[in-house]
Amino acid sequence: MQAVPFFQHDLGRPELDEIADVFAGPMLTTGDKVAEFERAFADYLGRRHVLGVTSCTGALHMALLALNIGPGDEVITTPMTFVATSTAILESGARPIFVDVEPDTGNLDACLVEAAITPRTRAILPVHLYGLMCDMRALREIADRFGLAIIEDCAHCVEGMRDGVRPGEFSDCACFSFYATKNLTCGEGGAITADRDDLIERLRLLRLHGMTKTAADRYREGYAHWDVTMLGWKYNMDNIQAAILMPQLRRLEVKLRDRERLAARYIEILSCVPGVTIPASRRHAIHARHLFPVFVDAKERDRLISEFSKRQIGTVVNYRPIHLLKYFRETLGYCDGDFPVAEAIGAETISLPFYPTMPFEFLDIVAEALASALHSAPAVHALA
Ligand SMILES: Cc1ncc(COP(=O)(O)O)c(C=O)c1O
Repeated sequence: MQAVPFFQHDLGRPELDEIADVFAGPMLTTGDKVAEFERAFADYLGRRHVLGVTSCTGALHMALLALNIGPGDEVITTPMTFVATSTAILESGARPIFVDVEPDTGNLDACLVEAAITPRTRAILPVHLYGLMCDMRALREIADRFGLAIIEDCAHCVEGMRDGVRPGEFSDCACFSFYATKNLTCGEGGAITADRDDLIERLRLLRLHGMTKTAADRYREGYAHWDVTMLGWKYNMDNIQAAILMPQLRRLEVKLRDRERLAARYIEILSCVPGVTIPASRRHAIHARHLFPVFVDAKERDRLISEFSKRQIGTVVNYRPIHLLKYFRETLGYCDGDFPVAEAIGAETISLPFYPTMPFEFLDIVAEALASALHSAPAVHALA
């Protein structure tokens, strides 16, 4: 039986060479390699400033703090995402206010946002789920009308574009993840954009204890007394993480083309399988193709996951909706039925194996496993 992993990174010689470059110098923590990565990533995105950080969760937390969002404030966001989108809001002291999602994409439904705005609302925090950007033009129009900030969770979407808008372009801050399975990865890591000079300076302080000097400053300029001008955190990316990211940044577009070819083939073969729905893209969108989920009958979903597991095919659920997780039910008082579209997707979704170096024959193995598992409902089901 051919095992098919859910994900396989493609890091190797180029990353090792770049790490060797860091090892040859004195600075392992935040220094020249991080600055090089920040410049290159800002250029790639077409943004003025980027800071390298330790995670997207940290980036989201910092963005909220930099925008002075905290206790008593509300942030409108999606329940159909990884839990970090909401825990970052709670860490800032603000309250996440969920809005339901579009049934065909799982993205925050811009048409429902306005109804959730209250006098306490300070920001909208959309997530570009699976790699498809939300309708940023619609969200920006609402944010401008109500004087709200926008913080983008771009953990799934570096390469995307929609209606001519790219990540970071229509928001105050955009937050990226370089977690182990992301399109750009260094194991753990992240980045944040901000075009406003005052905002990036606040973020720079928030990233490192609120200190006015860093180790790299001391190395370059010699020791000078430093001060702490605000309460900061410990979210700085180090030179080794930046070294791992640099070669991947150079091949980002080539890898996107590889994933596009794989996605096109998955779509072709899975469209013929009854009972499988593939989440939609949008016209005028470049989909970053981070994940490849399918929606199946909710009654069959968990059985399919165990069938895949028996065949050593890796799958993941992205996501069970946040509002139904124990902590959120208990502390925020959410319950079943609050966001029916997110709940339906949460019950129906399975993410299939997907990574740029995945052999084409693996797609056929996965599709065949899905089709045969779907059409071999166990006897208990037949009796039920
Ligand atoms: C949508 C989304 N937001 C936020 C995060 C958190 O990213 P990190 O692990 O870099 O903190 C993730 C990570 O998987 C994610 O998928």
